[in-house]
Amino acid sequence: MSIFTIALAIILASQFYWVWRGLSLARQWIPRPGLRRIVVGLSVVVIVALWAYNFGSFRRRTPIHLTLKEALLAAPFLTWAVSSLVGALIALLFAIPQSIVGLARSVMAKRRARAGGAKLASPSRRVFLERTAHVATTAPFLAGAYGLLYGRLNLEITLQPARLPRLPRAFEGFRIAQLSDIHIGPFMPAEQIRKYVEMTNALKPDLIVLTGDFVTTDPSTEDAVVEALSGLAAPFGVFGCLGNHDGWCGVEASITALFRQRGVRILRGEAVPIAIRGESINLIGTDFQSHRSFGPSPAVANLLANIETLIARDRVNILLSHNPDTFDRAAELGVELSMAGHTHGGQAALEFISPEIAPSRLVTPYVAGWFRKPGGQLYVNRGIGTIGVPIRIGAPPEITIYQLFRGQATQPRNSNG
Ligand SMILES: [Fe+2]
Repeated sequence: MSIFTIALAIILASQFYWVWRGLSLARQWIPRPGLRRIVVGLSVVVIVALWAYNFGSFRRRTPIHLTLKEALLAAPFLTWAVSSLVGALIALLFAIPQSIVGLARSVMAKRRARAGGAKLASPSRRVFLERTAHVATTAPFLAGAYGLLYGRLNLEITLQPARLPRLPRAFEGFRIAQLSDIHIGPFMPAEQIRKYVEMTNALKPDLIVLTGDFVTTDPSTEDAVVEALSGLAAPFGVFGCLGNHDGWCGVEASITALFRQRGVRILRGEAVPIAIRGESINLIGTDFQSHRSFGPSPAVANLLANIETLIARDRVNILLSHNPDTFDRAAELGVELSMAGHTHGGQAALEFISPEIAPSRLVTPYVAGWFRKPGGQLYVNRGIGTIGVPIRIGAPPEITIYQLFRGQATQPRNSNG
């Protein structure tokens, strides 16, 4: 059973709680049974239509612009799906201790009654707890609305110094811009990508890198994403690698060719020298690879075996790898700097509580930011697009600007190494 099927089953199960809540509210607010039946019936029709529309989207072409249908039918539905799941889990968290306390109280009350004592009663406490639970279960909907309308669009430009002991003098202060996880679609339309392209160019990087996931599920969107990114320009060129979604859509060869026509070079197990006044660094790129199977991507036993011979012993090596999990092996191989994406920074991470709380942490320790190990450093870009649900909470979209300096690597705040 896939993760997607399990997630879907849990979301469907959580809907029973909301049906129960909806029926209780309807009984409270609509006393006339006839009117109540009409309202409940109409609500059921709307909900079933929304599920049908959104499930049908898997078979439709992905729009590359934000259409009215997507804005009105897909965005609220998808936000509802995830918010209602979290809300139902919160309700469960309240219900479990309440049930235990309720059971204990009823046992105590029976014992007291048998002993001829007074009744134990605290209805005000129970009402208070119920109201608190109701307020707490609505919080995910507010968070979902925030993530959809603001968090998803609140782009951050991260200025990231990178100190490399062997950096050639000519590269002191060299600037590299990174864009990742574009995921063109109705919630990352072509015009939005072009806006980010303009912003990236305005930052005047020396080199631009793209770390994969240009498309999401629809191969026919490859032309549009390449066209939208084709405005990127930097004196030392634009390079990239492919992500798992590019592989899953089967566009590896075609999108690489399309990019090439637009002057962007996708490195698929390849290396290129970037040279300034006779000194150079070695830029390497690889397709998505993971040590465990990930969706349709098979497990790769020996990570980065395809680039081992490309690593230059006499120069600084920079690796573009969509999956940050290649970092451990890259550091072992002596790749000084890895640039990755893939995690979307967790997409819905409760970073304001703790950076540890992100769904991506279940699959990788490298969710977002800067990491260091003996032999190498890694930066994980949070990407600009979204998958699944078009929300971002605590994981804003990001363009990274690295500035290279010669020097010893400093210990990052979120380092695990
Ligand atoms: Fe992605």
